[in-house]
Amino acid sequence: MTVTDDLRGGIVVCGIVACRLTGGAEEFLLPALRRLEYRGYDSAGIAVTGPGQGGPHTVRAVGRLDALLGRLAARPLPTGLGIGVGHTRWATHGVVSEANAHPHRDCSGSVAVVHNGILDNADQLRAELTRRGHRFSSEVDSEVVAHLVEEAGAGRLVDAVRTAVRQLHGSWALAVTSGRAAEVVLACHRSPLVVGLAEDGYVAASDLTALLGTVGHVHVLQDGDIVELTDQISWTDGHGAALPPRPPVTVDWAAEDAETGVYEDFMEKEIAEQPAAARRLLERLLPQIVDGRLWAGLGLPPVPAVRFVACGSSLHASAAAARVFRRVAGLPTTVAVASEFEPEPGFPDHGLTVAVSQSGETADVLSAVEAVPGPLLALTNSPSSSLARRADAVLDCTAGPEIGVAATKTFTTQVIGGAALGLAVAAAFGRASPAAVTAHVAALARLPDLLDAAQLTSFPVADALADDLADAPGFFFVSRGAGLPYAAEGALKLKEITYRWAEGIAAGELKHGPIALIDESTPVVVVDSGSRTRLNGAAAEMRARGARIIRVGAEPEATFPVLAADEPPWGPLESVVALQHLARSLAITLGRDTDKPRNLAKSVTVL
Ligand code: F6R
Repeated sequence: MTVTDDLRGGIVVCGIVACRLTGGAEEFLLPALRRLEYRGYDSAGIAVTGPGQGGPHTVRAVGRLDALLGRLAARPLPTGLGIGVGHTRWATHGVVSEANAHPHRDCSGSVAVVHNGILDNADQLRAELTRRGHRFSSEVDSEVVAHLVEEAGAGRLVDAVRTAVRQLHGSWALAVTSGRAAEVVLACHRSPLVVGLAEDGYVAASDLTALLGTVGHVHVLQDGDIVELTDQISWTDGHGAALPPRPPVTVDWAAEDAETGVYEDFMEKEIAEQPAAARRLLERLLPQIVDGRLWAGLGLPPVPAVRFVACGSSLHASAAAARVFRRVAGLPTTVAVASEFEPEPGFPDHGLTVAVSQSGETADVLSAVEAVPGPLLALTNSPSSSLARRADAVLDCTAGPEIGVAATKTFTTQVIGGAALGLAVAAAFGRASPAAVTAHVAALARLPDLLDAAQLTSFPVADALADDLADAPGFFFVSRGAGLPYAAEGALKLKEITYRWAEGIAAGELKHGPIALIDESTPVVVVDSGSRTRLNGAAAEMRARGARIIRVGAEPEATFPVLAADEPPWGPLESVVALQHLARSLAITLGRDTDKPRNLAKSVTVL
């Protein structure tokens, strides 16, 4: 098994790292946290200790990792201590403050805990611990763990952690250390955690990205596992019974996959990687569509109807893919916002639910699919995620690590994976003629070249436009039919990384109210789709009111001439490359952080 088969699900808001090394822990913890910063970046902290060295010595700081580095430079920790834990936070419980940053400690300061996940019974435990005399110094649910470990006594740390964990409800990936014991204890339940052997000891993290270049393989903790890192590793269950180590998983991502390399930022890199990601996915899927193997390989029952469930960019990708199920496979297909999901009256119990989520950890999606009675297919970039584990079948997007918070290559591969699935259903159940399916397969095969061409064209155009658009307070993204999901995606990208308002809207709807917003300062991005007549009419109407029209089209005179002349059932996917570049160039002009936009984190594990 390789990492890309098994591990990418390890993705949640916040990041934790831990180590038990013979060398200095700081030298591992800080670069590892840097790699995890995309999971959360409103505060960070580390705690280190060593045999007989007291502590744990803890430093925390509000802001990005650089703020923590500044603190450490001003007030260095004792050097050479090899045992440590670290955390980078995206606040869910409690405001962003130093007190709420991890690691959290017990009353005596001798236990340090980092935690990912949510403890559902934290309020009750806090009340009970307070009644028993514990003093809390943060508002964070995670702090209860430090006090529970303290209360479990002065015996072995691993036993104290086990006793603490037995009292928790919710989800956790935990790394705990103590000044009294020269070890780190790991525990997990419904929140990912991996551990591996580095050159000078053991390292662990909530996300494999943190360990790239440090380990050749890792072991994935399963729910209930308790792992003790001393100068060796031992696995036990919740009752203390010894377990064999979980099987090793080869790390087949290179360290460079999690570095920007020649690019300015991860978003630029990940936009540029789209043609290659599309090619990789299509090479796997295309040969299996027409002969029915793709569908048969999923092992799902026949499909009377389909519903997509997703959020954000994944919702837009779902809308594009759903058209293939409707138009080519002729199946009744709905698309539901996961946070609003209610089983639709009349949807057959054995209808197929396709949950689309790059991370596979989005709480809204996980909560929505709890209620579905029929087969569940996960379309995800994280094939060992909670969603994938819950699903009856998984279609892996194989986009590689996406570090930029804004979805780019995961969106593109979701559309391609979803479209391939729709064609696979059409082929397997004879719902379209073999000739029609073959023609659509050929159109899918052309996508990597179209994306390549769109990439080459879009970057300079977007770059040249950005200065002119910098003062525009808001934007419309307009399209029709199959272009609508892309207009919505363009608006979302612009909003999240430029902090300007943007609305994705059907061209025909403008005249029913929103046109009142248009004046000389309003750029309107028109994504061509279907018959141009009505789009041209809408563009003319807006131009007459002073709007600046930015056209994404097939004709050479379009602002972004990136679309194929013929529109496939999944719509003008190439347009998204232009829209991503537009958002990114404007964000850079406005001085925004394209990879880590404010208030956002890569994966939203809260309802
Ligand atoms: C936007 C973006 C978000 C996610 C949404 C769902 O760029 O990334 O809108 O698409 O939070 O996330 P996943 O796909 O992980 O379920």
